[in-house]
Amino acid sequence: MSRLPKWLSDAVFYEIYPQSFQDTNGDGIGDIPGMIARLDYIGSLGCNAIWVNPWYDSPFGDAGYDVRDYKKIAPRYGTNEDAKRFFDEAHRRGMHVLIDLVPGHTSVEHPWFCASMQPERNEYSDRYIWSDSIWESTDLACIRGISQRDGCAAVNFFSNQPALNYGYAKRTRPWMMPPDSPAALATREAIKDVMRFWLDMGADGFRVDMAASLVKADDGWTETIRLWQDFRAFLDREYPHCAMVSEWGVPAKAIEGGFHMDFMLHFGPPAYTSLFRSEHPFFSREGKGDITAFLDTYLSDLASTEGKGLICIPSSNHDMPRLARGRDVRDLKICFAFLLTMSGAPFLYYGDEIGMRYLEDVTSVEGGYDRTGSRSPMQWKTGAGMGFTTGNTPYIPFDRSVGAPTVEEQEQDGDSLLNTVKALLRLRHAHKALRSFGEFVPVYAERNAYPFAYERRAEGERILVVLNPADREAEAPFGCEGEVLFCVGGSVRNGKVPARSACVIRRPI
Ligand code: NOJ
Repeated sequence: MSRLPKWLSDAVFYEIYPQSFQDTNGDGIGDIPGMIARLDYIGSLGCNAIWVNPWYDSPFGDAGYDVRDYKKIAPRYGTNEDAKRFFDEAHRRGMHVLIDLVPGHTSVEHPWFCASMQPERNEYSDRYIWSDSIWESTDLACIRGISQRDGCAAVNFFSNQPALNYGYAKRTRPWMMPPDSPAALATREAIKDVMRFWLDMGADGFRVDMAASLVKADDGWTETIRLWQDFRAFLDREYPHCAMVSEWGVPAKAIEGGFHMDFMLHFGPPAYTSLFRSEHPFFSREGKGDITAFLDTYLSDLASTEGKGLICIPSSNHDMPRLARGRDVRDLKICFAFLLTMSGAPFLYYGDEIGMRYLEDVTSVEGGYDRTGSRSPMQWKTGAGMGFTTGNTPYIPFDRSVGAPTVEEQEQDGDSLLNTVKALLRLRHAHKALRSFGEFVPVYAERNAYPFAYERRAEGERILVVLNPADREAEAPFGCEGEVLFCVGGSVRNGKVPARSACVIRRPI
């Protein structure tokens, strides 16, 4: 098991979706010079680490998750020199940068796939998963009939994303290769080569797309875990500082595979969804949620990963509806009081810090479909280009609804969501108990009941967090005395927790 990079003990991540963050050349699409120009803003929030969604050359059939060239920055974002400058500028500010690694598939336009489609055998014939006849579908959805090669190519996500070949754990057809077959091992080596390229340029690590999906027919992920352990061994030899977070959604498995961090996500166990996005989420005014739906999974994940890796709870991301959907500013403050005082490393999706809204019914852009509503351009200020672009036509429409939040307005309002997020992050950085590895101890978490209370502990310090998102007062049958460090909606008094409140209290030792 790898050692955890030291900086993760106080890491707070900001997710930059490059095309929607800051445009500097007026083409309506964000770019790397724009990302550099906004590094100080990210730092001012209290975030000290960044995850950048794919910035590689791509036909953008899936927003860049369909890579055409793993080693080239998409021209619309800038150049490889800009990427290098981005790493350098982030480092100068004491920040770390993880970039998105997409090892499961490429674009159909990737040269590897173009070569793989050829009927004559070549170096790339087995780089992807192919059946051995056009009439035989692969077990996964497949691409067929688009080349002279007699076979069907398996896809990993959309039809324009053919699956790279890492082999099958359970093989039921002759064309399925073992994970240690020369072709499957060659795919691994090709991806290691991509990792070297970016680590040499200055990346501090990777967020790994669909990390659980590489070895096919792998019940229980035994072979997938083995594969990632091989990647970690390579990193430990050549780039021991490389930090890795997986899009897996099952922390116990991912961390066994050598990842330092895994996300709680909107797929897999319903735990994360039950907080913010189920039919009756816990964080909702209606007060019909059940915190144990989250907590049971979280505690068992914590038990299997403690001391070895971190569980990351994102505010949202580019694949799910924004946190602000169905919530007002006070609701969001309560959500952030939770997100930013939990153990693990928090991930803040760009724009969530000002409560950017989910845009209902926008036409799909770049393979976004219903995710497009969470990907609209950052709202820096009011006006035609919203501080995002000097051109007037952003590639996804702006949120033009009344009261659409902006950074500029919220920076001037001491009570804004933005300033609340900053205050919470100041608190987190100031107290070891609140950082990544501080102990997490539930104090009150009853089935179908409010509030939810927990302590964070480190080096003799005990910090109690009491959350009542419901629109009714709740009982606090536990001790709440201490110094109030943060509070929204009133503090806990005489055993009563005000409706729609959040309180962070330093407990006497
Ligand atoms: C997960 C990514 O987050 C998502 O945006 C993408 O469409 C799929 N993986 C496929 O790469």
